[in-house]
Amino acid sequence: MANRTPLIAGNWKMYKTVSEAVETAGQLKKNVADTAGVDIMIAPTFTAIAAVCDSVKGSNIDVGGQDLFWETEGAYTGQLSPTMLVDVGCRYVIIGHSERRQYFAETDESVNKKIAAAIKTGLIPVMCIGESENQREAGQTFSVLDKQVKKGLKGFFADDLKTLVIAYEPVWAIGTGKTATSTQAQEVHQYLRSLLTEIFDQTFAQSVRILYGGSVKPENVSELMSMPDIDGALVGGASLNADIFSKIVRFQ
Ligand code: PGA
Repeated sequence: MANRTPLIAGNWKMYKTVSEAVETAGQLKKNVADTAGVDIMIAPTFTAIAAVCDSVKGSNIDVGGQDLFWETEGAYTGQLSPTMLVDVGCRYVIIGHSERRQYFAETDESVNKKIAAAIKTGLIPVMCIGESENQREAGQTFSVLDKQVKKGLKGFFADDLKTLVIAYEPVWAIGTGKTATSTQAQEVHQYLRSLLTEIFDQTFAQSVRILYGGSVKPENVSELMSMPDIDGALVGGASLNADIFSKIVRFQ
C-alpha cells in the first residue's frame, strides 16, 4: 500500500476578522510546532489569507483558499484567480465544497475547470464530494459520488492529478453534529478508491489522499483515522478554535 501522509485541514468558512484569524493561526502554530508526520492546512476567509500566510510562514502549517476561479485574470467581479492565491502564499485550495454547490451554483463542470486551473498553477486541489441525506436514504450514495468523481475529474490523466486530495463530506454530517460512523465512512472511502482504480489505475488510487469531513471533533478523530482508507480530515466548526483543532491534528 502507498504511504499516504495524513492531512488535517481546517475550513474556516465565513468566520473570523483578520485579527481573529491571525490570532488563531498564531496559537495553532505554537500548539502544533512539534507535530510531525501529518500535513496541516487552514483555509481562512479571503480577506485574512495574506495575513495568515505571513503569520504561519516557515512553520509546519500550510494555507489554502476556500474556492477559486479558473481564469488567471480578467473582468470577473468578485473572483480570485489561482495565481492570486499562489501570490499570497497559498499551497492548497478547497474546490466544490457542498456549501458552494448548494448556495453558489457550483457544478461538477465548474469543479472540473477549477481543478484544472489549480493544478496548472501548482495549487493542491482538495475536491469535495458527498451525498445529501435524501440521497443516502434513497440508496443513491455511491451513484451520486460516482457522478461527482467522474465529472469532476473528467479529461485528466493520473499523471495530472499527482497532488489531488479528495474530501468525502456527507452533506448530512456537515455542521450537524451527526458524524458518519467510521464504518460508514470507511465503506465510502473504499468505494472511492475502487472507483479511482477503475477510472485510472491502482497505483494512482492507492496514492490519493481521501479525507473525511463532517462534524470531525477531537472525540471522534482517532476512530475515523484508524480506518485503512481514511487519510485525514476536513474540519469546519472544530477548526475555529486553535486548542480544539490542535487536538485533532494530534489524533495519534
Ligand atoms: P463541520 O464542517 O466540521 O463543521 O461539520 C466540515 C466542512 O464543511 O468541511
